[in-house]
Amino acid sequence: MTIEQSPAPGDVADVYDGIGQIYGSTWGPNYHYGYWDDDDDQSSIEVATDRLTDMMISGLAAQPGQRVLDVGCGCGHPALRLARTAGVHVVGISVSHVQVQQANEAAAEAGLADQATFQFTDAMDMSFPDASFDAAWAFESMWHMPDRGRVLSEIARVLRPGGRLAIADVIERGPVSPEGREVLDHICANYAVKSLGTIDEYRESLAANGFVDVEIRDITDNCARTTALMADGVETQFDKLAELVGQEQAASLIDYMRRAAAAPESGYLILTATKG
Ligand SMILES: C[S@@+](CC[C@H](N)C(=O)[O-])C[C@H]1O[C@@H](n2cnc3c(N)ncnc32)[C@H](O)[C@@H]1O
Repeated sequence: MTIEQSPAPGDVADVYDGIGQIYGSTWGPNYHYGYWDDDDDQSSIEVATDRLTDMMISGLAAQPGQRVLDVGCGCGHPALRLARTAGVHVVGISVSHVQVQQANEAAAEAGLADQATFQFTDAMDMSFPDASFDAAWAFESMWHMPDRGRVLSEIARVLRPGGRLAIADVIERGPVSPEGREVLDHICANYAVKSLGTIDEYRESLAANGFVDVEIRDITDNCARTTALMADGVETQFDKLAELVGQEQAASLIDYMRRAAAAPESGYLILTATKG
């Protein structure tokens, strides 16, 4: 099947295999935001990002031996933590060949290759059989999807009835000021994002795809520090970034990370739901 889509899988891979490798070198193996309890929380990036993974693991509530789909697996770090903690079998998918290779190597190194496997698959067009997973998560991958509704319908198809879903995602929060719009437009233009979702869109789309027991938490305030810390890290790699994208663009990427941290319109949610 051929699907007309924008961003195309190759655009997403270009981001992660290009500037993403530089961001990752300073951020660590979790390619997602961190969660801090409050302004006084001095947790490191590693602790704060693993904490968000642990929130996803507890929201998913998967049981030992169950089969879990990881939609947008990055380099596999969250999936391996899930496999280890919950004793489940994870199948991770990504549209970056580099990430798939890194994730399978990390699984082998962790002695979890029999519990976690990673493959190149587009979430917009999955060929897994119906009802072949007990649970699924999309950990900060939905913002890249050209059609989130289509992905939710695909996830609903491959989940068995009663199967759990957890999502963490970068979202847009209204009302959006002109300055906020600039930040959101920058995110879309530079990180292979067609549009950011909203809490209302998620509620509607989850219901339309037969999900029940939907619980959504806006955790923007707990995650806001992420892009400011990322800017500090990436700034230490400025020359490498400039080599890749040019001086002006490198400075702009860093500047907008700081602006995103301060923009209330640049939000973050975590949600859980059950396939009815
Ligand atoms: C921000 S990273 C999150 C990675 C990982 N979940 C984590 O938390 O470390 C987004 C991930 O979504 C994946 N992704 C984006 N679009 C995708 C698609 N259409 N199908 C499958 N994976 C996709 C990217 O390749 C990347 O692995």
